[in-house]
Amino acid sequence: MTQPGRLSGIGVGPGDPELLTLKALRLLQSADVVAYFVAKGKKGNAFGIIEAHLDARQTQLPLVYPVTTEALEPPLSYEEVIADFYDESAAAVAAHLEAGRDVAVICEGDPFFYGSYMYLHDRLATRFDTEVVPGVCSMLGGTAVLGTPLVYRNQSLSVLSGVLPEDELKERLAAADAAVIMKLGRNFDKVRRVLDELGLAERAHYVERATMQNQRIVPLAEVNPMASPYFSLLVVPGQKWQR
Ligand SMILES: C[S@@+](CC[C@H](N)C(=O)[O-])C[C@H]1O[C@@H](n2cnc3c(N)ncnc32)[C@H](O)[C@@H]1O
Repeated sequence: MTQPGRLSGIGVGPGDPELLTLKALRLLQSADVVAYFVAKGKKGNAFGIIEAHLDARQTQLPLVYPVTTEALEPPLSYEEVIADFYDESAAAVAAHLEAGRDVAVICEGDPFFYGSYMYLHDRLATRFDTEVVPGVCSMLGGTAVLGTPLVYRNQSLSVLSGVLPEDELKERLAAADAAVIMKLGRNFDKVRRVLDELGLAERAHYVERATMQNQRIVPLAEVNPMASPYFSLLVVPGQKWQR
């Protein structure tokens, strides 16, 4: 009987290829198959980070998202379409593992921090030998390039999704010592309004494509919500502790 291959979920960091860990590089280069999630017609951000480290003997397995937006016309439901897609992706990865091939699934930032790899992990980790390699997540890439310490001493950090309803976002932000808001996109106007209402706009920092070559740091008031890319986040650092 063929010994099954090993699954690894590999964080490749927020964009700068030098933020790849040594362990990520080792597992990546030893994998028979390198799998990655990607939008239709795109090369894939995570793939672009590690492409130069692959060789021609490795199989590349793009897992192409069937939809690009969460808004679908009934009777289609985003949740169902995407769950089916993750089932199919897990089956494609499992076929390689069952044939004895090691599969590395790459993921932007960290695999367990809002990473798509999680949906494969949930389906496969009980069936196959699995290892997860942490990566530098976007929020820490963001604070580093902003040059902004995030949490001092006993402060607590809230990581919030911009998708949250306005009331809930406001409540959570009002209670936070420090916060990072991810998934801005079409939620940007709502998030900026909440920050204004709470008097936090001055303390908030916006960064696009942190650590990538085309990174931009833009004052909050000057952000054009229509042009805010998927790779953007907001940092509200904790109050400086000075003695
Ligand atoms: C699906 S989550 C993936 C998070 C990723 N696994 C991580 O560890 O950071 C996507 C969100 O991460 C944030 N993001 C990812 N990379 C980023 C970057 N280089 N700069 C700014 N935000 C980024 C954006 O808020 C984006 O909407």
